[in-house]
Amino acid sequence: MSIRRLPEHLVNRIAAGEVVERPASALKELVENSIDAGARRIAVNISEGGLSAIEVVDDGCGMEPAQIVLALERHATSKLPDDAIEAVTTLGFRGEALPSIASVADLTIESRVRGADGWYRRIDHGELAGEGPAALPPGTRIRVAHLFAKVPARRKFLRSARSEYAACVDVVRRLAMARPDIGFSLEHDERRAILVSPDEDRVSRVAALTDKDLADNSVAVDFRREAISLTGVAGLPTFNRGVADHQYLFVNGRPVKDRLLIGAVRAAYQDMLARDRHPVMALFLDLPGDLVDVNVHPAKTEVRFRDPGLIRGMIVGGLRAALDEAGHRSVQRASVAGLGSWQVGGGGSPSAWPVPAGGNPTYSMPVGDAAPRQGNVWDRVVDYVPAPMARAEASAAPVPEPASFPMGVARGQIAATYIVAEASDGLVIVDQHAAHERLVLERMRRAMAAGGVSRQALLLPEVVELDEPACDRLEARIGELSEMGLDLERFGPRAMLVRATPALLGQGDVQGLVVDLADELAAYDEALSLKERLDHVAATMACHGSVRAGRTLSVAEMNALLREMEVTPHSGQCNHGRPTWIKLGHDEIEKLFGRK
Ligand SMILES: Nc1ncnc2c1ncn2[C@@H]1O[C@H](COP(=O)(O)OP(=O)(O)O)[C@@H](O)[C@H]1O
Ligand SMILES: [Mg+2]
Repeated sequence: MSIRRLPEHLVNRIAAGEVVERPASALKELVENSIDAGARRIAVNISEGGLSAIEVVDDGCGMEPAQIVLALERHATSKLPDDAIEAVTTLGFRGEALPSIASVADLTIESRVRGADGWYRRIDHGELAGEGPAALPPGTRIRVAHLFAKVPARRKFLRSARSEYAACVDVVRRLAMARPDIGFSLEHDERRAILVSPDEDRVSRVAALTDKDLADNSVAVDFRREAISLTGVAGLPTFNRGVADHQYLFVNGRPVKDRLLIGAVRAAYQDMLARDRHPVMALFLDLPGDLVDVNVHPAKTEVRFRDPGLIRGMIVGGLRAALDEAGHRSVQRASVAGLGSWQVGGGGSPSAWPVPAGGNPTYSMPVGDAAPRQGNVWDRVVDYVPAPMARAEASAAPVPEPASFPMGVARGQIAATYIVAEASDGLVIVDQHAAHERLVLERMRRAMAAGGVSRQALLLPEVVELDEPACDRLEARIGELSEMGLDLERFGPRAMLVRATPALLGQGDVQGLVVDLADELAAYDEALSLKERLDHVAATMACHGSVRAGRTLSVAEMNALLREMEVTPHSGQCNHGRPTWIKLGHDEIEKLFGRK
């Protein structure tokens, strides 16, 4: 077989396969070039998710006409003055992006160096399509039109304009977070999606791009070990979200999605968060170039550390230190050891209930309720929503015998969070929020199975502000969400209007519910229907419809909750897999007091 040198246009196309997979990756290359050019402001305009056009305008150093020609040649870069690749501090240096993009699109560069005239050059799918003088302020404007229009094999793999748009927002958001000194704007089909001005401090920049409440619900991370530093903003464990998408990680100023780093973040929060909840954060790891290779793959965002163990240790240690400092503001870590002698709920089925010695599993119903009607328990479910809460009053009404109830009789509440009950064989403590959340989920499942969830109209429709991709995702699911009792409407580009919520949730936290659902939708494949993901969606809803920790319950309410737990399958564990109740048997109590 004879070996032949590939013609330039083919080489560029092959490179394009690696560097520009989709509009967002082309956009990333262009914005990175603007950052490398020393821009103070970068304005991005895209149409149809970048599929029909991407334009990036900067006020950076600009290029002279001869440089524009070179910039479009393969492996031509201004960023490696000598051969020291390890010492590179710019985002680019391969000199591949512009020629690659120009080989699969119609690309125009207009550029002007301060004090000189502007010039433009247009390359359409690898062919020169025009050049000449151009009028523009100092800086560079690059326009990419019809990406992959003539490469059907690639175009076929692109997703909808909506998901391409979401990816473009993500790219600009991450780069804007890395560089709070630069102002960024992003407009999509002439609607503004991002606008941040230059010279912001890091916390405000991160908050502006993620969640305006982050500033009040986070701790600053500032941890140094020798030449390595870890800085940023870490959300309190209680400020968590349903997906891990709100973790922004940077290595030497580059946005990365590195598995080692993501794992370390998980580990740091491990015993403070449920398995399916994720912190919000932006973390910046800076280390000498010889300790990390950020160029494992031109478009991929993985990095390679020389000493992965050291980096992992720093992240876990740094986050822990910062969160510990937050002290009482953060959620207490559960002391697992202390539970040694407690019987823990979570067996899942009624047969796992503690059974009085010698008896078969029997589930007695409250006094006055003629016969156990397990199937109809929904008819008499107590609603926890109404009634101004009295303090747990001393039980004035005749108190039923503890013996009749596996979960016992409520004796009081501690920390407005736990119900303390006396059972015939011991002391039971119930986490009211976890337990109620589980009950709501089970009710929801039954309602869905029985053909529909009833809704309750809000007195005043509520407006929930979200970013545009999140609204797009919710809008696409309006029909399915409505079947679950949640009535939404699009309300302008970046807000949803909530008209009704599932009745069994009560008047909960509508904002939080919609935000979490949008996250939930972002986390799964577009191909799945909500029905297929019913459990997750219902769990998200249930969480928002539940009795919160911190609410004072009346004795009647507490007892109603206990009774419902007794007849609800899976009520021993909450939707996050934690136990909803624990029990200390009489035997154990006696042992603890040295009586046995
Ligand atoms: N917005 C810009 N402003 C000034 N110069 C630019 C800009 N974009 C690209 N260039 C020049 O074009 C060259 C090639 O860009 P590119 O193909 O992205 O390769 P790289 O960024 O790896 O050098 C850059 O090295 C830079 O000199
Ligand atoms: Mg570049």
